[in-house]
Amino acid sequence: MKKLAVAALILSSISGGAYAHEAGEFFIRAGSATVRPTEGSDNVLGKLGGFNVSNNTQLGLTFTYMATDNIGVELLAATPFRHHVGTGPTGNIATVNLLPPTLMAQWYFGDSSSKVRPYIGAGVNYTTFFNEKFNDTGKDAGLSDLSLKDSWGVAGQAGLDYLINRDWLINMSVWYMDIDTDVRFKAGGEQQSVSTRLDPWVFMFSAGYRF
Ligand code: NI
Repeated sequence: MKKLAVAALILSSISGGAYAHEAGEFFIRAGSATVRPTEGSDNVLGKLGGFNVSNNTQLGLTFTYMATDNIGVELLAATPFRHHVGTGPTGNIATVNLLPPTLMAQWYFGDSSSKVRPYIGAGVNYTTFFNEKFNDTGKDAGLSDLSLKDSWGVAGQAGLDYLINRDWLINMSVWYMDIDTDVRFKAGGEQQSVSTRLDPWVFMFSAGYRF
């Protein structure tokens, strides 16, 4: 099935025709966005090892403006991601929500008559954390007052648009985001801060509409 899709992509890319992206064009993509952290952290409380952070999938949206036929500016938005956080010995002890809006400058290969437009991008990510909560396991262990520090970092991206017709496209894309935070909480009333990196891969599969 995958091989068929790739063959279809290659065949249709040879046929050419009046496609785009063109300077001045604006398009929106919507689909599934999965955040997969490559996490690591300081040794939690000096004995629990590093934090583990679960994957999560939400609705992802990108808004792209083509400044030229090859240069795009894109904003990534999504519904809030919700991740479980734990350690090896304890299992999950908390949940956190995050939003990682990301602004990218992009280079689209090919030209405005290409049906397939691979692209790469580089930009900046801002991640804000909210609804940080210890679950019963965490509370029973005497943990409270969980809070994660917001993060600014760089992001890199690669993707591919397949233009179905003048209005619609399908897309797959991947980001790597440098997201680092301090996990602050109280353990038995004593303030703790654990330097933690999430540095996730973000995978998106979407459909796009062009205006
Ligand atoms: Ni990092």
